[in-house]
Amino acid sequence: MTKLPEGPAPREESLLDPGKAADDVQFERGLRPQTLDEFTGQEALKSNLRVFIEAARKRGEPLDHCLFYSPPGLGKTTLAHIIARELGVNLRSTSGPTISRPGDLAAILTDLGKGDVFFIDEIHRLSPMVEESLYPVMEDFNLYVSTGKGPGASALKLSIERFTLIGATTRAGLLTGPMRDRFGIVGNLSFYAPGELEAIVRRSAAILGIPVDGEGASEIARRCRATPRIANRLLRRVRDFAEVRSRGRITGEVARFALERLEVDPFGLDALDRKLLSALVQKFNGGPVGVDNLAISVSEEIDTLTDVIEPFLIQCGFMARTPRGRVATRKAFAHLGVEPPAQTLELL
Ligand SMILES: Nc1ncnc2c1ncn2[C@@H]1O[C@H](COP(=O)(O)OP(=O)(O)O)[C@@H](O)[C@H]1O
Ligand SMILES: [Mg+2]
Repeated sequence: MTKLPEGPAPREESLLDPGKAADDVQFERGLRPQTLDEFTGQEALKSNLRVFIEAARKRGEPLDHCLFYSPPGLGKTTLAHIIARELGVNLRSTSGPTISRPGDLAAILTDLGKGDVFFIDEIHRLSPMVEESLYPVMEDFNLYVSTGKGPGASALKLSIERFTLIGATTRAGLLTGPMRDRFGIVGNLSFYAPGELEAIVRRSAAILGIPVDGEGASEIARRCRATPRIANRLLRRVRDFAEVRSRGRITGEVARFALERLEVDPFGLDALDRKLLSALVQKFNGGPVGVDNLAISVSEEIDTLTDVIEPFLIQCGFMARTPRGRVATRKAFAHLGVEPPAQTLELL
């Protein structure tokens, strides 16, 4: 047999791959809860929002500006849509990098109706100029647009209808202080508990008409990085295996088989999680190592590391952030079957 030449290693696909295919976007929309009651988990945040929404409605005033932060896939965009719906107003949505000039902002803002929701995803990626022009808008609904250039330049004041700004970001710490301070409501969405994820899987399966038994649902729930978006994606992929192997029914056995094929391990770590963890354990002997070195060693952006991969690994107790850098825990060494050095952090 001839040996195939070795090409470049295939890029490991993360389950949270940001380059979402169009049909994934369609698929997600179909599964998005429409009301706070349908939105599983995040109980404390939800009950506060209920109060704020009802109070705003009673007063006939727009809701305070809201900021939601969490790793991707935990429900920030969904919440923004739900809030608009519960308030009975329109939602306009955009994202930080798409508004490049204050002029783009003017076009959207002047089009808003009273009480509407203006959703800015990735709000930490607004340009400083656009961000500054937002401050007076958030405070007293005045937008200053500069006209002309040089000494003849002047600012035109535009009055904007009172509206609600909802911002989403992967880390509150990415926002500037002045920006953060202008939000009246700030909510952190946390990773979901297995029971909540199981409920989400069952709900999605019912919408999609996929038969799933208790063990099948709980297997997906345990292995989705505690993230609803991933739970839904896994459900969809596992369904393909179920169609071929068990006449469409997702059982525990089919789910385990499929998840193994999809390279999701029993803790729910995907290929990228394991790549990072093995770099930390094997190349850096468990750390501590700086985040920039770690990112280079796995050829990922620092932001992907800090905002997507690490939060879950930290949540599961596989790694920790220390002032001297990232460290792997004993649990990580055990998971990879590597003998830990004596000084390894004893965590969990
Ligand atoms: N609490 C929840 N209950 C049910 N489904 C959820 C929940 N949060 C998120 N989802 C599902 O996960 C998908 C991703 O959520 P999304 O709001 O887009 O996350 P984010 O904006 O934080 O990245 C949604 O399409 C939705 O189907
Ligand atoms: Mg989103």
